[in-house]
Amino acid sequence: MSTPDSSSQPSLVQQSRDGDILILTINNPPVNAFSVGVPEGLKAGLDAAAADDSVKAVVIIGGGRTFVAGADIRTFDLPREQSPDLRGTIEKLDAFTKPTVAAIHGTALGGGLELAMGCTYRVAVPGAQVGLPEVKLGVLPGAGGTQRLPRVVGAAKALDMMLSGNPIRATEASQLGLIDRLIDGDLLAGAVEFAREMADARPLPRISDRSVPGATPDVFAAARQGIKKTHRGQLSPSLIVDLAEMAAAVPFQEGWDAEATKFMEAKDSPQSRGLRHIFFAERESAKIPGITKDTPTTEIRSAGIIGAGTMGGGIAMNFLNVGIPVTIVETQQEALDRGLSVIRRNYENTARKGRMSMEDVEARMALLTPTLDMGDLKDADIIIEAVFENMDVKKDIFTRLDGIAKPGAILASNTSTLDVNEIASVTSRPESVIGLHFFSPANVMKLLEIVRAEKTSDTVLATSMALARRIKKVGVVVGVCDGFVGNRMVHRYGDEARQIVEEGAKPEDVDASMNALGLPMGPFQMSDMAGLDIGHAIRQHQAKVAGQPRPDGWLDRIVETGRKGQKTQGGIYDYDETRRPIPNADMQKLIEDYRAEKGITPREITQEESTKRLAYSLVNEGAKILEEGIAQRAGDIDVIYIYGYGFPAYRGGPMQYASEQGLKNVVADLEKYGQTPAPLLKRLAEEGKTFAQYDAEKGR
Ligand code: CAA
Repeated sequence: MSTPDSSSQPSLVQQSRDGDILILTINNPPVNAFSVGVPEGLKAGLDAAAADDSVKAVVIIGGGRTFVAGADIRTFDLPREQSPDLRGTIEKLDAFTKPTVAAIHGTALGGGLELAMGCTYRVAVPGAQVGLPEVKLGVLPGAGGTQRLPRVVGAAKALDMMLSGNPIRATEASQLGLIDRLIDGDLLAGAVEFAREMADARPLPRISDRSVPGATPDVFAAARQGIKKTHRGQLSPSLIVDLAEMAAAVPFQEGWDAEATKFMEAKDSPQSRGLRHIFFAERESAKIPGITKDTPTTEIRSAGIIGAGTMGGGIAMNFLNVGIPVTIVETQQEALDRGLSVIRRNYENTARKGRMSMEDVEARMALLTPTLDMGDLKDADIIIEAVFENMDVKKDIFTRLDGIAKPGAILASNTSTLDVNEIASVTSRPESVIGLHFFSPANVMKLLEIVRAEKTSDTVLATSMALARRIKKVGVVVGVCDGFVGNRMVHRYGDEARQIVEEGAKPEDVDASMNALGLPMGPFQMSDMAGLDIGHAIRQHQAKVAGQPRPDGWLDRIVETGRKGQKTQGGIYDYDETRRPIPNADMQKLIEDYRAEKGITPREITQEESTKRLAYSLVNEGAKILEEGIAQRAGDIDVIYIYGYGFPAYRGGPMQYASEQGLKNVVADLEKYGQTPAPLLKRLAEEGKTFAQYDAEKGR
């Protein structure tokens, strides 16, 4: 339909004509981010349209799979003069005297939606999505979004969109007036037709000329109250509320100028660096050297799960949620019935909250086949063992599975600590064996540690990565060692936490020191939740293996009183009906008696010391893991800690947090508190580098 113009063009934006309409097509794969070259191309297009009387209107469209997915996040740290001029482009659009139409497919996110709101009109295919996700990167819409979105959709909806960062569908956006026309069929043809209809309509309905509907004081007060819960300790959400309030209170230009200043403040914060680091680290973690798009994968059409306990049931739900039938095996009918009823109850609770219909519940339950016969797993494409942590039991199961599973089936263990090579060695097909370590509650936590054993085949690894995506998990590949990445680090962290109490701190102060860093649970709140008997058993086992005396720390003594944590209504803490931890005087006395018996004079430990010792114990173990090649990248460790352990994303994960503190300072503090810094950490500190630089230099 359109004829490309043969004159020389900036390569990221192509100009073409359809009669009296000039079409500007942005081509910056893969997501048409607003990189250097895009503003130059758009401005040149607008100049051409202004200079040519035969052009009545302009259509801006994205080439490839999407409209503009936002500012180019990779350019955020460039000096301002080298950054792509998104704001200048939008100013030019706003002042433009002919109609401009944004034609949206795929996603118009962040700067993409801001660009579209700078146009006179917006049209979209019904399946498109639009949103302002900047809060997820620790910034705010910095190219007019905070000023224009409230003017279109009203204060409350705009706040909801900007504070959640979640996109809405074009169909909803059209009801809100954010999209002027939905176009079924050929988007470009529809957009050109719309532009032609509007070519002579004057005055141009600029968003910047409007006022903000529904801007009552209570809307902003409610938003401020809400972010205390949803975004505790974060900078950009409160700046967003301030700016949305300004949109209603001051002339457009004043709000637009204020937005630029606040954007820079948020962008230059460690929180934004942390969140941007995680954005890229999560995407990097999906890249495995040697595994390419051409690595063959197998199709997973059915799954078998051994063990219907908390883990097995949670794992099963992941598969049922995406329509994969599951056969679940137990040894006793009672355990099987219990497992099934827990799964049903979980789904029914979700339905009660209105997040699922009862038909959905039944549809999922219908995909689940309970059995006491492991032989029923013979046709499963993947089998995941989720029984308790005991090597002999696991070896027995894998020996039997070897005789049952069809050739090519993936045999996975959900072990959280055990040697997957040893488990694989009992089968005749170690290439089919892999560790798939889910995190409790397995139907909720997003992390999946994918444990690549020595002989795991590329196909099994690539299939497991694809499976993680399909069941909506973030899969991170790790190597075999005791505890892999996450639990190995958490064991070291637990040791340090107990040591801090031994030296004089109260457990609640140690937990508070990690809450202050933004973790929802400190080390003792976490162990009470997981069950104190688990850590106790691991410590006893490790001492036995190492030929050391039976561990007798203060926490072991608590466990030996029968208090195992939340499951026994009390552990280190007591719990009320809302599961709030309450310090227990008897346990405090037990700790004091323990210190007295060991001749320890308690000393005052500041919150700062506690936070540093705990956070840096994670980092130090992480550095060892990295050097041993158990994790491929420091970024992978950060992704594991954010999705598996609740480390706040705005800190960027423990390794990024350490880099922000300066690795030299981390090393000095470790030494000050009597920990030996890992050789890699010391080396990077001496070279003045960060973990991100280490990853970049390794090309991973
Ligand atoms: N800038 C730079 N690179 C980006 C990018 C962006 N805004 N968005 C995506 N990419 C890159 C990804 O890093 C990835 O690169 P690799 O292939 O090298 O790993 C590639 O594009 C494809 O991305 P995904 O793997 O995420 O692809 P997807 O199809 O699963 O998702 C998407 C596409 C929904 C657009 C998703 O990438 C996304 O959510 N992107 C971020 C959108 C965003 O946050 N925009 C706001 C930016 S901030 C802003 O605009 C500030 C402002 O107000 C001025």
